[in-house]
Amino acid sequence: MMSVRRTCESRQMSRADIDTVFRNHGESGVMDVEKSTKEHAWMEKLISEVQDVFKNDHINTEDLKYVLQNYKSNPCDWKKYANFDAHKYTRNLVDIGNGKYNMMILCWGPGMSSSIHDHTNSHCFVKILDGSLCETRFAWPETEGKDAPLQKLGETLCNTDDVTYMSDEIGLHRMENPSHSDGCVSLHIYIPAYDNCQVFDERTGRHTKAVVTFYTKFGRKVDYRHSRQGILPPPDAENVNRSQYSPY
Ligand SMILES: [Fe+2]
Repeated sequence: MMSVRRTCESRQMSRADIDTVFRNHGESGVMDVEKSTKEHAWMEKLISEVQDVFKNDHINTEDLKYVLQNYKSNPCDWKKYANFDAHKYTRNLVDIGNGKYNMMILCWGPGMSSSIHDHTNSHCFVKILDGSLCETRFAWPETEGKDAPLQKLGETLCNTDDVTYMSDEIGLHRMENPSHSDGCVSLHIYIPAYDNCQVFDERTGRHTKAVVTFYTKFGRKVDYRHSRQGILPPPDAENVNRSQYSPY
């Protein structure tokens, strides 16, 4: 059974925060405001701050890093997007930033890891929202067409509220939840968004193309049964099965 290190706590909202809630939910009554302030307002505030960084054509990645570092994670803010699966880590799309980036939340069960992959020439920011991820970096394969093990560059353990950055200029990486008992939730921003990447075999350096898919988009489960692109149900459909694997 996974444990939760940080529970939902009420927070003092500033006038600006309350205004943001009204802007996003409409002046529909006290109940809406109370519910939203308790749950998703801070996530919306974070999305709004990230969108502000992308307002201009020139994007200052240091500004984005500052916004992510400044946010102190609380499960109340993002639990709507934290959908776990028993067999694989999940990617849950949160915001597409007017086509400039993809923001998503990844949920990792105990021991789950990604493949070794590149980032299709995008910038990649990761903030740990709960738990830990071990990042292992590798150099790009040196010899095209000749099998050789990938060269390991180093390992870093990232804990709750840590922010890390990755790009193809640095190399390749694999992310893994090292815990045998606890889940991990991480926030990822890819600039620009991409639909596919390359995944690598550690022993041979060979690569294949992998298509990016999502477990949920904007809190709704994507149905891939009849379409490779996936079908998104109507906004009012409650179709995410909140299983025992979701500790939030
Ligand atoms: Fe990555």
